[in-house]
Formats: sequence, structure tokens, C-alpha cells
Amino acid sequence: MPQQTLKIAVAGAGAFGREHLAVLARRDDVTIAGVADVNQAAREAATSDFGVEESFADAETMLDAVRPGGLIVASPGFTHLPIAMAALHRDIPVLVEKPVGLSAAEADALIAAEARSRAFVLPGHILRFSTPYREMVEIARSGEIGTILAVKGRKHRDDSHAVRYADIDPVLMTMVHDIDLTLWITGGTLESVLTLRRPSDTVRSETIVTGSDSAGVLWNLTNAWAIPTECPADRIEIVGDQGSVEMEAWRTIRVYGRRARQIDVAPGAIDDMLAVEIGTFLDGVRSGEHPGVVTLTDARNGLAAMEAILASLATGQVVTA
Ligand SMILES: NC(=O)c1ccc[n+]([C@@H]2O[C@H](COP(=O)([O-])OP(=O)(O)OC[C@H]3O[C@@H](n4cnc5c(N)ncnc54)[C@H](O)[C@@H]3O)[C@@H](O)[C@H]2O)c1
Repeated sequence: MPQQTLKIAVAGAGAFGREHLAVLARRDDVTIAGVADVNQAAREAATSDFGVEESFADAETMLDAVRPGGLIVASPGFTHLPIAMAALHRDIPVLVEKPVGLSAAEADALIAAEARSRAFVLPGHILRFSTPYREMVEIARSGEIGTILAVKGRKHRDDSHAVRYADIDPVLMTMVHDIDLTLWITGGTLESVLTLRRPSDTVRSETIVTGSDSAGVLWNLTNAWAIPTECPADRIEIVGDQGSVEMEAWRTIRVYGRRARQIDVAPGAIDDMLAVEIGTFLDGVRSGEHPGVVTLTDARNGLAAMEAILASLATGQVVTA
């Protein structure tokens, strides 16, 4: 049976909003009913490039004019709370790019609004929709490597980030993905943390986070925005008391323990994540139910962890979350 065509709207037509629009434009079960952007050039380019029906300067005006079946929010972080609230208030399901809000308190406000609404919020935590990351997490959580003892993540970026994103802390911009990944792997919440940075007065630096969570797992996350050339691949290692599993991102998963093996990551996996994320959201829009995978509570726990990590960075002291 042919699927019902969904009317989807997008708020924010900048770099990542255009990625969302490109995925939507490739689907034959969606019409892009509206795009909202405060920047006229951005909304006009999106309208002509992706066959959008109507464009607006304001997201709330668009929701009332278009009454979409679902909304994707890809505007800057500080706009996420008011736009997502406006959608929930109108019972319109919403996919909100990370971060869902600027603080755990903002995420709490969204959780309360979701409870009052017939609609849901799907946080756009993209790695949760990635096939190789899911495979690695399933191995870790299956019991194959025993009880999980530690998660170690490395996510470096070239030093142009220190210029392009000078106003955003690397913890919020880059480490955020490994924080969410660690919460996903352990199923716990961060309990105590020490964050150190060298040099300490610039984002062109190395940051090391050492912590422990409510599942009894140790965290060791590192990030440098100081590599002047191509960066080493993102790496995540999960150590259990019966083995370990690690991934060199988008290349290989290696499992050590009772059944040692190497799993090559399929080419193109990095490009599929956003399409899977959007497909999952559309499934939820169709069914009227939250599609699972990642919830506002997960997003809230990530924001609370980031707040503790940044508080430790500011004080140089261990912070209890
Ligand atoms: N999941 C990921 O891997 C990933 C990657 C990149 C960006 N993002 C997220 O996507 C979001 C957008 O990032 P970006 O890189 O596209 O930024 P960007 O600056 O390129 O684009 C943001 C766009 O939003 C518009 N905008 C600003 N205020 C608005 C408002 N009130 N209503 C509607 N539009 C508004 C701006 O004019 C701009 O066109 C951010 O939340 C970012 O964290 C996620």
C-alpha cells in the first residue's frame, strides 16, 4: 500500500538545515511544506534548491500557516526551546537538532511540555542512528565483554575549529557526541567529574574529562582542537571485565575477548545516519508515537553531564553532578 505523504516543515536553513532538506527532498513520501529562517537569503536558497512550497521569516508563523505533520528544528541552539515549545503546543511532533536546549533546565521544560502534548520530541543525537555505532553499543551491552568498566573516547578536530567556533566551548561543540554516546553505552548518569585543559585559556587546546557514573563506569573523554593537519580518526573504546570493543570511526570495529574479531564498517555509513534519523522521525509522525532510540530524558542527562564537566573546568575541582 502506498504510504501517506507527510507535510514536513523545517526551521533553520543554514548548513545543517540544508542537509536535512536534502534528505527530505530525496524522499517520495514527503512534501517540504515550509521552511523558516530569519535570514532571507537562506530561506530563498532553500526554497529554490529543495522544492519547498512556502518560506517564512518566523517559525511559529509557519506552523500556523502550514500546519505541518512534523517539524525539524535546525536553527541555532538558543532558538530550540521556544520553537520546539511552539510545535508541542500545537501537537506537532518535532525533531530537534542537538543540543535540544542550552541547559538541563531547558530540557526539563521541554520534558514537561511533551507530557502535556499529544506530540513528541525526538532529539537529533545523530550517532544513535548510525549503524556501526549501534553495532558497537549492542556488542558492549550484550554481555559479551562482561561488565562494562570504562568508556574512553577521543574526538579531535583541526585547529580551524578554534577560529570558526571561538565562542563555543569544545565540550559543547565536539565532546557532546561522546558524552551522549557514553550515556547510551552505560545507561547511567554522570556522578562525579574532573575536567582539565591545556593550555587552559584557549579553545585551541586539549581537554581531558575523567569521571564516573551511576552505573559504576569510568569515563575518559578527550578532545583537542589543536591539530593543524588532518585529524586522527574518532575512536571509542569500551572496556569490560571479559574483554573490550573499540571502534576507529567509519573504518573498523575490533572486539577482544572470547570471540575476537574485526568488523569492517560499510562504506557510506557516515552518510546514512541523517537519513536514518529522519526516517525514524517520520515513522513516529506516521504512528503518532515516540519512535524510541533517544528521548528528551537522554538529552537532559547529557546536558546535566556537560554542566558538571564545564563547572569542573571552571574551578579545576572535582564536581559532583
Ligand atoms: N548532529 C550534528 O552532527 C550536527 C552538525 C552540525 C550542526 N548541528 C546542529 O544544527 C543546528 C544548526 O547548525 P548549523 O551548523 O546549520 O548553523 P548555521 O548557522 O549554519 O545555520 C543556522 C540557521 O538558522 C537560522 N536561524 C537563526 N535564528 C533562527 C530562528 N529564530 N528561526 C529560524 N531560523 C533561524 C540562521 O539564519 C541560519 O540560517 C545547531 O543546533 C547545531 O548544533 C548538528
